[in-house]
Amino acid sequence: MPEIFNDMKTMIINGSPRREGNTARMCRAFAEGVRSRRSDASIEIVNLYDYDFKGCRSCFACKLKGAATYGKCAVRDAIAPVLEKALEADILVLASPVYLMDVTGVYKSFLERLLFPKASYEAGYRSLAANRMQVATIYTMNVPKEMAPERVLESSEYFIGHVLREPRRVCAYDTYQFDDYSRYEVEVFDESRKRVRRAEVFPLELEEARDLGRSMAVAAEA
Ligand SMILES: Cc1cc2nc3c(=O)[nH]c(=O)nc-3n(C[C@H](O)[C@H](O)[C@H](O)COP(=O)(O)O)c2cc1C
Repeated sequence: MPEIFNDMKTMIINGSPRREGNTARMCRAFAEGVRSRRSDASIEIVNLYDYDFKGCRSCFACKLKGAATYGKCAVRDAIAPVLEKALEADILVLASPVYLMDVTGVYKSFLERLLFPKASYEAGYRSLAANRMQVATIYTMNVPKEMAPERVLESSEYFIGHVLREPRRVCAYDTYQFDDYSRYEVEVFDESRKRVRRAEVFPLELEEARDLGRSMAVAAEA
């Protein structure tokens, strides 16, 4: 029997502008988890803010009868190759900080471009995605868990689930926002409590992201 290995293509999409921020650290922890299971995994972390692109332009080329662009985003810009790679991944991670009780605008633009072309208007809104990869979502936010914008996050995950696969989620709550709180006008958050949380709880949340990466690598082998 031949042993067949794929290299477990893992695409991690970071919708935060901060390359060293909380979301980036959660993304890296997820990647470490995948690696701990599959040292041969090919892992790419894409920082969306590095790309010059916009959301869906409503051209409907992806819905045009008989067209070569049916089911595909026809806009050929900087993000187009990333969309193609993301749809071919074995594991896809979609990560965003919470901005104004929602995902970031750039992350939302990416989801429009990724998901809408594959969400057909055929009977039953059939998904045109050929590949149902493992999907994870990562969110980080300043608020504690009980104040997370649950319904907003669920609604974007609804489309991810419809088109690709229902995602598994990991979050970091009550995050530490600034390098040095003393330099900023901040009266509403208790910096010392935040500091303790960063030291004691954030590492556990990173561990959860690692565990999810590992368990998705196991699931992707099946
Ligand atoms: C423009 C902006 C809006 C934000 N809005 C929220 C919010 O509505 N709720 C929340 O919990 N955190 C909010 N935050 C805080 C970030 O979600 C939080 O600090 C997050 O961990 C930052 O991730 P990053 O380090 O990857 O950039 C906001 C931050 C910014 C810059």
